[in-house]
Amino acid sequence: MEVIIADDHELATLVADAIERLLHRESAPVLGLATGSSPLSVYDELTRRHEDNGLSFAGVRGFMLDEYVGLPASHPQCYRNVIDAEFVSRVDFEDGAVQGPNGMAGDLTAASAEYDRAIAEAGGIDLQILGIGTDGHIAFNEPGSSLASRTRVKTLAHQTRMDNARFFDDNVDQVPQHCLTQGLGTIMEARHLMLIATGGHKAEAVHQMVEGPISSMWPATVLQMHPHATVLVDDAAASRLQ
Ligand code: F6R
Repeated sequence: MEVIIADDHELATLVADAIERLLHRESAPVLGLATGSSPLSVYDELTRRHEDNGLSFAGVRGFMLDEYVGLPASHPQCYRNVIDAEFVSRVDFEDGAVQGPNGMAGDLTAASAEYDRAIAEAGGIDLQILGIGTDGHIAFNEPGSSLASRTRVKTLAHQTRMDNARFFDDNVDQVPQHCLTQGLGTIMEARHLMLIATGGHKAEAVHQMVEGPISSMWPATVLQMHPHATVLVDDAAASRLQ
């Protein structure tokens, strides 16, 4: 695991550079997209490169990490709408090139298996962008998640629902209780993981991820076993590293 400590702008530049290299190198690149605050500066930087330098996402496939269960497609906080607004609609992805788990499926178990199949059929994810929760989750693999898990339904931890209440009028009761999330085993199959964490509220999770024992109680510690994981943190998020 490589750990890079830099300011938010530099972190975004490094991730955008890696994505740009991938897009130039591969004929059919596959990106793994995270929602949440952490990757926003990366999406802004990629959009800037698209507008200013013609960086193109035509021919690129994208797979989202997770989706709330039971939020209708019209809901602004449906992750599909969030990623569209924050990134996908700002560049030139082709229609249907970005997929997410279907949190409105009648059979969520079948939808989960179908999602893992779709990723495999696309050739797997070349570069997966990740954030980390204050409780150490990646995607929505909350503490206690199997390190070998596949895409499946998970119950969101109360801490995560509290953390995300800011997107739901600060009302935790409006935050869905369940999600569909790529499993830790699914995420570990991506060829390069780039995890971004900024702010002092992430310091304990970053400390556990980088320096703690590998444990399902801190799911992000699974990154220690990945052959190509890059952790990008600012000073505040790095403040508990030894
Ligand atoms: C979102 C996701 C989550 C977030 C994490 C951090 O798709 O998978 O794991 O990355 O909750 O969220 P932010 O970046 O908002 O602090």
